[in-house]
Amino acid sequence: MDRLSGKVAVVTGGARGIGRASCLALAREGARVAIADIDFDGAEAVAEEVREAGREALSVGTDVADEASVEVMVAAVVEKFGRLDILHNNAALTAPEPLSRDRGVAEMTVEVWDQTMAVNLRSQMLACKHAVPHMRRAQGGCSIVNMSSGAALKGDKVRTAYGASKAGVHALTMYVATAYGRDGIRANTIVPGLILTEAVAAQVPAAMLDAYKAQLLTPAVGEPSDVANLVVFLASDDSRYITGEAIVIDGGMSCHA
Ligand SMILES: NC(=O)c1ccc[n+]([C@@H]2O[C@H](COP(=O)([O-])OP(=O)(O)OC[C@H]3O[C@@H](n4cnc5c(N)ncnc54)[C@H](O)[C@@H]3O)[C@@H](O)[C@H]2O)c1
Repeated sequence: MDRLSGKVAVVTGGARGIGRASCLALAREGARVAIADIDFDGAEAVAEEVREAGREALSVGTDVADEASVEVMVAAVVEKFGRLDILHNNAALTAPEPLSRDRGVAEMTVEVWDQTMAVNLRSQMLACKHAVPHMRRAQGGCSIVNMSSGAALKGDKVRTAYGASKAGVHALTMYVATAYGRDGIRANTIVPGLILTEAVAAQVPAAMLDAYKAQLLTPAVGEPSDVANLVVFLASDDSRYITGEAIVIDGGMSCHA
């Protein structure tokens, strides 16, 4: 239960869903956790949960698409905890309204494309940019865990910008892993299939969920804690020989015809 003792983690988009589960899981393993989210009240509520579990926590109101905001996020974490070892780039544009405007390229507006790239991809570059100098100072044992999606691996008629932004995350991860590996910084990508967050459970019709379940190789649909367990593994030295990888967590959905 103490695989992350002494480490400091920041989780973007940590106010709910997978990010919240990861904050709680990282804290359970001994990390001090900063929860960064555009929803400050949500971030503070998760910070309170972490504190109730006996770990130190910090909530930071952050817009990951904005460089000044990301810079403040990293500075606040380092000022509070004195170091930064784990960066989990989890935030993404997931709200139904912007996603509903993300369609095929013939209908794509530059606004939707740019907003999606800024929140999903540029954000992860910016957080790496500002975290890496502090991670270098830690001299080993640092881990960046970037969040992609199964949407990066296959085409679809909708969510073109979302899929393309997530595919960019795979390349970003390999470049970061390559540039800073010898500084003791690993970087990996998590590629989830459908994960039953509260928002997904509320939005996805039951019939669609049943059709999805029928294609899974596992008995149940993944939950936020399944991804959080992988975040902890990739954040910890248990995965010290894994870097630059993209790891699919989708109940076998993408591995069969
Ligand atoms: N849930 C799934 O089925 C699924 C599947 C594949 C990939 N993912 C990926 O997992 C990650 C988490 O997804 P989720 O389902 O838990 O999402 P969610 O919608 O439950 O949570 C996303 C969080 O990100 C925050 N956020 C949004 N824009 C932000 C910004 N500009 N700055 C800071 N915070 C911002 C939101 O406030 C929210 O707290 C995302 O990267 C998503 O693309 C999720």
